[in-house]
Amino acid sequence: MISQESIQQIQSKIDIIDIVGVFVKLKKRGANYLGNCPFHNEKTPSFTVSPTKEIYKCFGCGKSGNAIGFIMDHEKYSYVEALRWLANKYNIEIEETETSPAFKALQLTSDSLFIINNFAKDFFVQSLHDTEEGENIALSYLKERGFRKDIIDRFQIGYNPQAKDEFTTKAIEKQYNKDLLLKTGLVVNRDDKLTDNYRGRIIFPIHNQSGKILGFGARIIKSNDKSPKYINTPENEIYVKSKILYGSYFARTAIDKANECLLVEGYTDVVSLHQAGIENVVASGGTSLTVDQLRLVKKFTNNLTIIYDGDNAGVKAALRGLDLALEEGLDVKLVLIPDKEDPDSYVNKIGTQAFIEFVKNNKKDFILFQLEIALNDAGTDSSKKAIIVNQMAETISRINKAEDFTRRQDYIKTVSEKLKIEENGFNALVNKVIRDKMSKEEFKSTKTNFSEIENPTPSNDNIDQLLYKDEQHEQALVRCLLEFGLMEWDNETVVADFIFNQIDESDLSDFFDNHLLIEIIKMYRKWFQEDLKPNSKTFLYLEDKQISEIVMNLMHVELEISPNWKEYYDGHIPTREELYKEEVFSIVNYLQLRKTRRLILQNQLELENSKNIEDQLILIQTHQHLKNIEIELTKKIGTVIIK
Ligand code: GTP
Ligand code: MN
Repeated sequence: MISQESIQQIQSKIDIIDIVGVFVKLKKRGANYLGNCPFHNEKTPSFTVSPTKEIYKCFGCGKSGNAIGFIMDHEKYSYVEALRWLANKYNIEIEETETSPAFKALQLTSDSLFIINNFAKDFFVQSLHDTEEGENIALSYLKERGFRKDIIDRFQIGYNPQAKDEFTTKAIEKQYNKDLLLKTGLVVNRDDKLTDNYRGRIIFPIHNQSGKILGFGARIIKSNDKSPKYINTPENEIYVKSKILYGSYFARTAIDKANECLLVEGYTDVVSLHQAGIENVVASGGTSLTVDQLRLVKKFTNNLTIIYDGDNAGVKAALRGLDLALEEGLDVKLVLIPDKEDPDSYVNKIGTQAFIEFVKNNKKDFILFQLEIALNDAGTDSSKKAIIVNQMAETISRINKAEDFTRRQDYIKTVSEKLKIEENGFNALVNKVIRDKMSKEEFKSTKTNFSEIENPTPSNDNIDQLLYKDEQHEQALVRCLLEFGLMEWDNETVVADFIFNQIDESDLSDFFDNHLLIEIIKMYRKWFQEDLKPNSKTFLYLEDKQISEIVMNLMHVELEISPNWKEYYDGHIPTREELYKEEVFSIVNYLQLRKTRRLILQNQLELENSKNIEDQLILIQTHQHLKNIEIELTKKIGTVIIK
């Protein structure tokens, strides 16, 4: 974790014009800057950046955000990667909070593994090009397969010589730690001696998003029955198979442009397609896709096209995991390559244009493809058909995002036609599956809050219904905290002190229904107490998107395109800043009043249900007490008591 101090140090240096300017040509236009949107194609610029508000917005495609968000979006970086990018730009040393020895050790190991891998890559590349053995055995093989020099270079393909320990010796000479060398899998321990693990193999380095080498795939040159075709890096601190997509580093921009990611199985498929000019392609490494890999794809595009060999027995197995893709909101299509070919051999055979056409014309919808296979398997067995119906309902229920509603309905229609069942019935089944899932989840996350006692309808009609679902005042208080928290309250305290005095941390959930707002208040309080001087910008740059979005909305961040209206007024209009104490005071009181009224209501319900005289007495006293508080508060606010 990057420490909050470092994050704030980075924030304080952020100059959004400077940052966006690295990627977009900006021109000054009034208070703002204008340029061509990097997220969609446009000829007239509608991409606006506000230096004062530190945000950008495209009036063409609607994309908006802050500087960190821009780097994340544009470079497809994670939040932390974006911070590192900025820290690097502004020469800020990042301080990590997790300084436990274990965490430090982990970091050290990871860094060392990257260093060794990079050293190994250089060694392998050199062995391929600059040695007789490399040229004669490996380079000639690659050339025979049709790989061009520029592509071999781009993918940093190399060769590990046949000798027992050529690489190992070089690495030991460099004084790399033996345990770490073993961890990389480049070196193994045989009969108590360290030897090369990939002897006589072609080496494919596997890069992460930013081009650093996580590990390798090492291919045998002449197939033989005894050894496996490929050896891959064993799992270690940086090589985590389930999170790796081979080629993603080289494919990022192309995927973005095409708004589609092609997924193949093998390293050579990726390399060959690149060579053919088809660059939006990554490989899974021959296993079924994991959620992490799908999320990686999702960072770039919603459209995933899987290209597999047609006679591959693995297709079915791979499909099984793909239901997950629906939950991630991915639109998955499937293309099967015919005639025992794979994408590598096929593109070499038919050429780029024909390959692109083939993919375009042979995309199968993955859900319908699944159905097709299942129906074939079931034949005429009607009991199996019932199972398929349920399976399909389960699959379709995973498309459960509001924006995908039409898509789901389309599937319900098509699938019920293919299954020859009634659409309405099938629709109801899908809805039931969704409901069941939701109630399960709700059950998991139930927290006692007031909404639960909304069900036994309040008997007292006089209680203002508005009191129960009224988030505006909750938002207003958080806005006050963010905007005025550090401003003076009285001689000794600031606004935040007053708010935290009035609203105790332990009963935040009595004051707030929105748990995100509670989160914000808690974070603010923590930082405030640590004297980190939090403000709205602190939250604008948080990793948690939900929170930064809420804060962005709270702060009225819409860009002003026209000149500030205030300039047109001669007379003095009091600003919010001038009235802040009044605003804070009235909102705090309002929320306290709301809480009190809720307690009164709760108390009344208990009273109605209580059979025990003693209990009733206590409840009546409580009622009196609460009523007094209510009167006091109402006086303060100056509103009329509702009965
Ligand atoms: P070429 O045969 O050289 O074209 O390579 P390929 O990438 O087409 O290989 P293939 O289609 O046989 O396998 C696809 C992917 O599965 C490979 O790129 C590897 O990632 C993986 N794979 C294949 N064989 C092995 C193996 O023996 N061991 C391991 N660990 N992975 C393998
Ligand atoms: Mn192949």
